[in-house]
Amino acid sequence: MKGIFRGFRLKLKRGKKPEERMEEVVEEKEAPRLTMRTRTFLSGRGHLLASYPLYEPWAYAFIVEDPKTGKIVYNVEEVSMNETELKTYKEVIDYITWELEPPEEITDAREYLIKYARKAIRLFQIKLGRTPGLSWAKISYYVERDLLGYGPLDPIFRDPNIEDISCNGVGIPVYVWHRKFESLPTNIVFRTEKELDEYILKLAHMAGKHISVAYPILDAILPGGHRVAATFQKEVSTKGSTFTIRKFRADPITIIDLIDYRTISPEIAAYFWLAMDYKMTTLILGVTGAGKTSTLNAMANLLRPTYKIVTIEDTPELRLPQENWVQLVSRPSYLATGGIGEITLFHLVKVSLRYRPDVIIVGEVRGEEAYVLFQAIATGHSGMTTLHAESIDAAVKRLTSPPMNIPPSYIPLINVAMVIKRVVRTDETGRPRPARRITNIWEIEDYEKYKEIARWDPIRDTFSLKLSDSIVLKKISELTGKPLENLIEEIARRKAILEWLAANRIRSYREVATYVQKYYVNPRAVLKEIGVGEI
Ligand SMILES: Nc1ncnc2c1ncn2[C@@H]1O[C@H](COP(=O)(O)OP(=O)(O)OP(=O)(O)O)[C@@H](O)[C@H]1O
Ligand SMILES: [Mg+2]
Repeated sequence: MKGIFRGFRLKLKRGKKPEERMEEVVEEKEAPRLTMRTRTFLSGRGHLLASYPLYEPWAYAFIVEDPKTGKIVYNVEEVSMNETELKTYKEVIDYITWELEPPEEITDAREYLIKYARKAIRLFQIKLGRTPGLSWAKISYYVERDLLGYGPLDPIFRDPNIEDISCNGVGIPVYVWHRKFESLPTNIVFRTEKELDEYILKLAHMAGKHISVAYPILDAILPGGHRVAATFQKEVSTKGSTFTIRKFRADPITIIDLIDYRTISPEIAAYFWLAMDYKMTTLILGVTGAGKTSTLNAMANLLRPTYKIVTIEDTPELRLPQENWVQLVSRPSYLATGGIGEITLFHLVKVSLRYRPDVIIVGEVRGEEAYVLFQAIATGHSGMTTLHAESIDAAVKRLTSPPMNIPPSYIPLINVAMVIKRVVRTDETGRPRPARRITNIWEIEDYEKYKEIARWDPIRDTFSLKLSDSIVLKKISELTGKPLENLIEEIARRKAILEWLAANRIRSYREVATYVQKYYVNPRAVLKEIGVGEI
């Protein structure tokens, strides 16, 4: 075996039954070296920017730059199968495909398939005995990758640096959005229409949904929480099937991460924490992939645990620690039913009112559901939502035009609006790096009367916030009778907590939730813990 994976050998313990041996497969790991392909690429025209394992010892990522064109490519390098292994792999896959018996009782289908695949491999091991040059572990990797995983894209799904994976058609490289290098072509290409169509059918099956010529659009959630949108054949996309996947983060972005990434300042985060506590309605604006949903999620995590929260989404992306949370998700209809059975965001916002929510969170408003949401806010519920727009003016224009048709008199029901943007910063080495910043925050006084209360300075990379002018704080003060100074002090306390959590790297979803909850129950204890007396 050649290349980076030379030296991997299957070590089977002697004197045991083959199935027992299989469990004890040990692979010799080796630091990733460059395969011939990457080496040739490099020797001719490129240099390596980054390399790291995706799934040791099977798959690695090599990010390579061509100095002449400046083109950066994301190369997935996997252990390659020799001819004998490839032949055996195909036989195993055929065997599983044809011989798979339905389970006696319906349990976890994935678990069942894993067990069955293992059994099939063991059978083949017994049948073939010790075959020189054949790695069963390698075959197992490919069987698992293709039957249970995401096939050729499986290594990319394992890369935490990748945010999006998209394919625009046959013969075009699959593109990824890398946290450090932004949009990159990969060395993975679907060569034929059949190959791509089959892959999309596989994605639809994995999501438990349907895609076909009759219903050529898919919008679904894959196992593991990844959001997929796809089109099938040439029905609605002229170049043939396409798909795009927004990868799910197993570890959600928290408010502390946003502070750490400098997307938001601790003071602005504390201001929102207080505003949401007093049920101020918040609107998060931004373009596709700007980070609207992540910001919404991070902020909603700060809501009082006693609040009844109802979230309404097309695809379930939000994750809240609060127990008093109902997650509603819309449902498409299939053409065959003539549109019957469809449950839209509109229906869900309407039904959500029956739950007597304190806060209604709509993942993204686009259509007639916006009107019901505004009616709900008008009757005393708090609302949080996101909208595709780059500024408050553009957002209001969208809200007041079809299909949302919000009357201008409803616009002041929004208390605060913020916009999140993808910006470019230079790192210590002078290289441009993508970043996200909440660039402007407005408080809504009236229709076409917006007060910019906070703003990001792109030169100094700092935020300014003018609390003394805040309409929101004045409103809270009127509602509660608390003087403005007390509210500003409360923001200072919450800011101190957020800064302390960030400084101590207490950032995970659970940890942040614990502190937020503790603060609501016993603020003095938390302030004592972080070493802050009375502010
Ligand atoms: N502040 C941030 N810093 C770094 N990465 C972020 C930040 N916010 C979001 N991301 C990442 O950016 C990607 C897109 O984020 P998100 O889904 O929140 O965007 P969105 O604006 O809701 O997109 P869409 O318009 O497609 O719904 C995700 O992979 C997320 O992990
Ligand atoms: Mg979103």
